[in-house]
Amino acid sequence: MLETLQVDLKDRSYPIYIGLNLAYGELLQKALPQKRELMIVTNDTVAPLYLDKTRASLSAAGFQVHHVILKDGESYKTVDSYMQIMTALIEAGLSRDCALAALGGGVVGDMAGFAAATFMRGVPYVQLPTTLLAMVDSSVGGKTAINHPLGKNMVGAFYQPKAVAADLQALDTLPRREIAAGMGEVIKYGIIYDAEFFAYLEQHADLSALIADKAHLIAMVKRCCAIKAEVVAQDEREGGIRAILNLGHTFGHAVEAYLGFGTWLHGEAVGLGMILASYLAMHRGLVSREQYQRICALIARCELPVKIPDGMTADDFLRLMRHDKKVKNGAIRYVLPQGIGRSAVYSDISDAEAAAVLTQFIKEQA
Ligand SMILES: NC(=O)c1ccc[n+]([C@@H]2O[C@H](COP(=O)([O-])OP(=O)(O)OC[C@H]3O[C@@H](n4cnc5c(N)ncnc54)[C@H](O)[C@@H]3O)[C@@H](O)[C@H]2O)c1
Repeated sequence: MLETLQVDLKDRSYPIYIGLNLAYGELLQKALPQKRELMIVTNDTVAPLYLDKTRASLSAAGFQVHHVILKDGESYKTVDSYMQIMTALIEAGLSRDCALAALGGGVVGDMAGFAAATFMRGVPYVQLPTTLLAMVDSSVGGKTAINHPLGKNMVGAFYQPKAVAADLQALDTLPRREIAAGMGEVIKYGIIYDAEFFAYLEQHADLSALIADKAHLIAMVKRCCAIKAEVVAQDEREGGIRAILNLGHTFGHAVEAYLGFGTWLHGEAVGLGMILASYLAMHRGLVSREQYQRICALIARCELPVKIPDGMTADDFLRLMRHDKKVKNGAIRYVLPQGIGRSAVYSDISDAEAAAVLTQFIKEQA
């Protein structure tokens, strides 16, 4: 089973392949016709599971395959890992006509993408996502980055891949908590863009059933990628509508920073962030109580946390949200749902309003 979508960006357009047991070699031959030397970038968790299989498929299609194995984890999304990729490329004698392949989750994808954007001033790359989050979100759209000790994703580039190939078979080995975190981003698409998809998720979002049923998974990943492709095609560099993809992220980043990055998974923090954004939207009359409750219920059913961590206050949120990249001209920009299936960015929310709403949420959850 193979589904194909297209990200429409004129001369930078590219296909997204979604399926089971994908023949990476054949698919990538189409995306990288003249690229014979290929550096697979992966990590020490994914490599034992998928590197041999991936190498074999690519070699059989005529690529000369090299690989570099990074340490696993967000804490290794650093300049040192980036340098490890550069060193591997240079030591292998690769030049401008090589290409990179990111085999892994969003961490590997973001780093390999940034390495591709900068090696020899830019070489092509492809994304082979192996987490649900990477399949539905980070592998599509061309945002690449590494972290700086002073902030997440602070060093990066917009740089589109030549193809994305999501083999859903990889989800069989992904821990359940990571699947749940990926569902945070999946639900996001329903809230911001597609009421029908949200209703579909309400019917199908039982995690055990979902993991077992690949047809639903494929349909779900396909719809998410289609929405992301549509939004990115309209606004590649986040000058406008692309910002709605950040629903839940401003609150979510504050939670991640408060607890220390890695305590909660990114998708978990986004899940709670979406609840807080919806709660704020309800207080502004943008979302009804019933819609707010549906959003909370779906997030909870996907086994994502729905409560603010113990001890975290409204002041903590505001202090940490001020550090977010999305702050513009001193105003925190909030993505808020407008009912279910639509959303917009609001820059007119004062700290006093946000603090009052957060304080009320904390009081209600107690
Ligand atoms: N570029 C973008 O647009 C964008 C969007 C969202 C998130 N991100 C970034 O993505 C990152 C999060 O990505 P993630 O959630 O995929 O995390 P991740 O890359 O850390 O992967 C999660 C864990 O699963 C492991 N893993 C990966 N595939 C596996 C498999 N098939 N079986 C077993 N284990 C597997 C990984 O080694 C890791 O331990 C963050 O750094 C975030 O900033 C980027």
